[in-house]
Amino acid sequence: MSDLIYVFCHILRQMRCTKQCRHTVSPFERKREQATRAGLRIIGVFAADAVMPAIHRLSDPLINQIAAGEVVERPASVLKEVLENAVDAGAQAIEVSLDGGGARRIRVSDDGCGIDKDDLALALERHATSKISSLDDLEGVATMGFRGEALAAIASVARTTLTSRAHGAGHAWRVDGPGKAPVPAALNHGTVVDVQELYYNTPVRRKFLKTEGTEFAHCDDAFRRVALARPDVAMQLSHNGRVSHRLPAGDMTRRVGQIMGDDFLAHARAVDADAGATRLTGFASLPAYSRASRDAQYFFVNGRFVRDKLVTHAIREAYRDILHGSRHPAYVLFLDIDPRTVDVNVHPAKIEVRFRESRAVHQFVYHALERTLGQAGTADSGAPVHTPSPPAGTPAAGFARPAQQSPLAMESAANTYYDFAATARPSVGTAASPPAAPVMPAQQAGEAPPLGFALAQLHGIFILAQNAHGLVLVDMHAAHERILYERLKTVLDGAPSLQRLLIPAVLQLSPREMATAETCTEVLAGMGFEVSAAGPQALSVRTVPALLAAANVSELVRAVLAELEDMPASQVVTARRNALLATMACHGAVRANRTLTVPEMNALLRQMEATERADQCNHGRPTWTQFSLAELDRFFLRGQ
Ligand SMILES: Nc1ncnc2c1ncn2[C@@H]1O[C@H](COP(=O)(O)OP(=O)(O)OP(=O)(O)O)[C@@H](O)[C@H]1O
Ligand SMILES: [Mg+2]
Repeated sequence: MSDLIYVFCHILRQMRCTKQCRHTVSPFERKREQATRAGLRIIGVFAADAVMPAIHRLSDPLINQIAAGEVVERPASVLKEVLENAVDAGAQAIEVSLDGGGARRIRVSDDGCGIDKDDLALALERHATSKISSLDDLEGVATMGFRGEALAAIASVARTTLTSRAHGAGHAWRVDGPGKAPVPAALNHGTVVDVQELYYNTPVRRKFLKTEGTEFAHCDDAFRRVALARPDVAMQLSHNGRVSHRLPAGDMTRRVGQIMGDDFLAHARAVDADAGATRLTGFASLPAYSRASRDAQYFFVNGRFVRDKLVTHAIREAYRDILHGSRHPAYVLFLDIDPRTVDVNVHPAKIEVRFRESRAVHQFVYHALERTLGQAGTADSGAPVHTPSPPAGTPAAGFARPAQQSPLAMESAANTYYDFAATARPSVGTAASPPAAPVMPAQQAGEAPPLGFALAQLHGIFILAQNAHGLVLVDMHAAHERILYERLKTVLDGAPSLQRLLIPAVLQLSPREMATAETCTEVLAGMGFEVSAAGPQALSVRTVPALLAAANVSELVRAVLAELEDMPASQVVTARRNALLATMACHGAVRANRTLTVPEMNALLRQMEATERADQCNHGRPTWTQFSLAELDRFFLRGQ
């Protein structure tokens, strides 16, 4: 160690020497060789004699340019700030025209309150704002702007002209940049902000600009955010002379359709939940509309677009059971909350916020979405239809179990379905043993339950059913998986009912599986698996959860052990419990090529109607789809 310090001291002394004497062979190199020979490694050097110049005040333009680094990241940030100013000014119509992706020119005109002649020059100064004047104002700020920074920052890095005519003024006035005096100008009302040649005086930053297309895409997104937040304001966007959005003032649903597309609306649920003064409204996509990226996610807090980790987490959690991990939901959600409980002054671009009651907000957003998405029995395009579960009780007469003995695996699979059938509507079918023929006369279609009545099974994979709208196609494994999963969640909250195996199943396990089984015996018992060691690597399984009686015991138990591996027992009941149940449901669900009778199929349909989130399997795949008569007509060109 002392050697190392010695070498460092020498190096530093020699480096100073190098600087002053300009030796041709660097003493640093020589010392490094010496150090290496001595078996020492140089881990760093530091300049001990750097000279710190005297402190001085930065000039105002430089201060503004440094501040602009935070506010004006790219053309889209200019557009965002200028649009927000127009909104704050009470504009009812805003027109944006861009050139060269916004880098060449951003011109925004509004019909808001305008700026007085005397305030025009001030608007381009730093820390000049009309929006707050005290800390108290800041804490309850309701406008988009409050810092008095944006225009000054923009004007310090782009040629900026501000033209405005305040209400009641005889004519408009214009300032052509910071420090310039206002000159008379022509404008009917409102304000025009014209920002040209972004970064004309900071070439290094100009080099960081991406292609025109990319910069325009960012501007387009900034425009969309404001447009979504303010459907009551008419807005127009054009780029290089071509109009890309023309949005008349309207209501939120219409604006969401215009910005997100009608397809999104058709596959989204309307959200409307409140808790006291806090309210969540908007639309959240059903999983069938999920996306590979997060590009269609808009969350607003009191009209301000934000990206907030807490909120994103709450939304992700609400989708956890119905969306595959690699897919992303699309949503436009508006959280209205007392401004005094939100700190908006935590990020230079005001894109992050801090909630005073962060946990309560998380729970509120999570539950509001989870409830909305969990409503059962809905088609993507239809209005929510909820079919309450039929009252549990005596099995319907038509679904008595067949008298004859079936092979064990088949018998248990059938049992599961007769359990379904026992809770199905008595009016569905009347067979003592599985009837062979479809049972629904066409004229009954109008009275059919939401998912209709089964007609047939296709290739051992799909159920075909007829409902009031036309044809329903169900992926039977996916649907059954969701039903089992939801039922397991409920059943395992209490004491699970068990299916005792006639002959215990003995599984040959790996040492690792065996160790997991032994450490998790109690956890397994809580889920309905009674197990004990039957040898060093043999596990005897005496019971399985009654709901999973149809499953292949060996595969089911192995899958559960794989899930439990490395999972501390305390976590089973919390974080990863649902993943475990999903695995169990997948193994318990009816497999492809299993022939179902019509009553079994009908029972499955009725259970789907009564199950939360039955529209998607646990992996986010759709479980069923509807082909309306109109679609089928179109397909066959009928009536054309
Ligand atoms: N389009 C507009 N119509 C009317 N007044 C405007 C407009 N744009 C800017 N102003 C006035 O200029 C002031 C300065 O605007 P600027 O955007 O720099 O700051 P701010 O909006 O107050 O705060 P922030 O920096 O957070 O945006 C505003 O407070 C407002 O009084
Ligand atoms: Mg502003």
